Amino acid sequence: MGRPLLVVENLSAVITTGRGPLTAVDGVSLSLDRGEVLGIVGESGSGKSVLARTIMGLHCSDPRFALSGTVKLDGRDVLGLEPSQLRAMWGPEVGMVFQDPMTALNPVKRVGTHLVEAVRKHQQVTRRDAVGQALDLLDMVGIPDPRRRINQFPHQLSGGMRQRVVIAMALANRPKLLIADEPTTALDVTVQRQILDLLDRLRGELGMAVIMISHDLGVVAGRTDRVAVMYGGEIVETADARSLFDAPRHPYASALLAAIPSLKGAPHQRLAAIDGTPPDLVMPPSGCRFAARCDAVHDDCRVQPPQLIFDGTHGTACHYPVNPLISTASNTSGDT
Ligand SMILES: Nc1ncnc2c1ncn2[C@@H]1O[C@H](COP(=O)(O)OP(=O)(O)OP(=O)(O)O)[C@@H](O)[C@H]1O
Ligand code: SF4
Ligand SMILES: [Mg+2]
Repeated sequence: MGRPLLVVENLSAVITTGRGPLTAVDGVSLSLDRGEVLGIVGESGSGKSVLARTIMGLHCSDPRFALSGTVKLDGRDVLGLEPSQLRAMWGPEVGMVFQDPMTALNPVKRVGTHLVEAVRKHQQVTRRDAVGQALDLLDMVGIPDPRRRINQFPHQLSGGMRQRVVIAMALANRPKLLIADEPTTALDVTVQRQILDLLDRLRGELGMAVIMISHDLGVVAGRTDRVAVMYGGEIVETADARSLFDAPRHPYASALLAAIPSLKGAPHQRLAAIDGTPPDLVMPPSGCRFAARCDAVHDDCRVQPPQLIFDGTHGTACHYPVNPLISTASNTSGDT
């Protein structure tokens, strides 16, 4: 398959806050092949958006963010790029779709203007050609009657249609990687499903890799090749989607799945079923960050932070995993 499209190694993002340094992303490593879909799930505050934005290079010039580790996108060192190089990358290399389409759309600009600007940012084409591309993009994302829609303002579109426009903007320069950060949370259930189906279709048509971020397990179930579960700024479990859904090993992932009666056709199920609160990322606990909420906790869990240990391609950060494939898995990490 060749070199992975995205390689993230030991990535951390520490934010300066009024309470002290907050480690929003802590030593995250992951990789993504071309055309692959990775789901990142985790409850609110687990670091999903900071991770996504750091991968995009959006925090590079923010003095409040201290970044370490590496992000290589198609061989380029994202965290080392100049602002102009990052701007050149956003569009043809990586596109992003956020939760709320209105934040990506200027209310006083017509739909067509958004798309024409997105096209011309990276392509030396005439306005007429750019308008032609804008119409094609609207058609591609399933917006009926593009010739009428192109002249409308964002507020004249429904939430689902607006999100389709934002997706069209992200795809205007055919990125190799699309990062969708909770792209459907603001939409009602039926429209959510339509947008997810659209992303599935476009991924197939355009052959792009996708990182699909959600606190909604139903969104990633059945739509991703691999899944990474985040907790307290760390990846606590990662595996191909089937293994993770069939036999989760981290107690957090296991509890989340057990709390959902049926994953099939349930894109509105939320990761809110676990009692307790997430760790304070300004003062994280010294051992396992999930210890205070874990039914399987042992004394050593509170002292020794578990590392992400791989068994083939299935990684788990837990001293006492559920469903361990190898019976000694807990011993290798836990009896120290
Ligand atoms: N600009 C910022 N300034 C200070 N703290 C921040 C900032 N951005 C994120 N954080 C903190 O970093 C942690 C991770 O936030 P992040 O937005 O990545 O979580 P998330 O997993 O995307 O959550 P959600 O599901 O609510 O979107 C949180 O504790 C959050 O409060
Ligand atoms: S390391 Fe211990 S506390 Fe942490 S998830 Fe595993 S069993 Fe639970
Ligand atoms: Mg977020």
